[in-house]
Amino acid sequence: MSSNRVRKAVFPVAGLGTRFLPATKASPKEMLSVVDKPLIQYAVEEAYEAGIRDMIFVTGRSKRAIEDHFDTAYELESELQVAGKTEMLELVRSIAPADMHCLFVRQPRSLGLGHAVLCAQPLVGDEPFAVLLADDLMVGNSGGPGVMAQMTAAFEKQGRSLLAVQEVPAEHTKRYGIVKGEAAGGPLLRVDEIVEKPAPEVAPSRMGVAGRYVLTPRIFDEIRRLPKGVGGEIQLTDAIAQLMQHEAVYAYQYSGKRYDCGSKEGFLEATVELALQHPQVGAAFRAYLQTIQA
Ligand code: G1P
Repeated sequence: MSSNRVRKAVFPVAGLGTRFLPATKASPKEMLSVVDKPLIQYAVEEAYEAGIRDMIFVTGRSKRAIEDHFDTAYELESELQVAGKTEMLELVRSIAPADMHCLFVRQPRSLGLGHAVLCAQPLVGDEPFAVLLADDLMVGNSGGPGVMAQMTAAFEKQGRSLLAVQEVPAEHTKRYGIVKGEAAGGPLLRVDEIVEKPAPEVAPSRMGVAGRYVLTPRIFDEIRRLPKGVGGEIQLTDAIAQLMQHEAVYAYQYSGKRYDCGSKEGFLEATVELALQHPQVGAAFRAYLQTIQA
């Protein structure tokens, strides 16, 4: 590994989105929109803000809408141009800035998050990379950097794998990778244990992994060697546990907020909060909410 600069991001987007049926029957869950942008665009913008330019999507069947979203839309663009709707044209074009590269690889079977990440290896190669799970919508503190920008800055300093973490309620440990670690300065914890989705009685802590990672390429070797884990899937968490035998791994307590947009409650919270902050509709939406409060 020649440098600690993170240039590539992996977006595992092959999942079926069963928690959001029927909305996700024929369209990808990552294309569900919060206010006016699909979840995947929030994640890509977060990576772009962190200086990442190579976006690698690990897709599956019926995910074409994601490829189309980041592609040129000739008909739409020429119609907007003819109609003189330059602002909208700019908006459409800004989804994929000229210096951003989108790469796509298929995950042929749903064998878990670890397997999805492994599918990206030929495109990542031998360098550190980010992983962003789009159904975790992450928002940095107002005026501050986004969560991935915080993590890539930390990685540039110490060059060790990083997992975004936050404290979760005890009854929710079964939804997350849970880490136990020792304070290692500022927002960092040095991880000495990580377990995928433990029951509250056996969880080593309440520090839950959010869907943001910066990983060293050695993770690919660890994933390849893994047996199936929780739910019969190849778990990224298990590969990280193996990686820790060879390299230090750190948890990063990010500044900002996570919305679990893989659940209806989290999706609704994100919709309401981001609508309230939206420059065009925020004020009117706030006034509207006041009219319906009991
Ligand atoms: C995945 C990971 C889990 C992590 C979570 C964050 O689980 O396996 O370790 O805590 O993302 O959202 P999933 O939500 O895909 O079941």
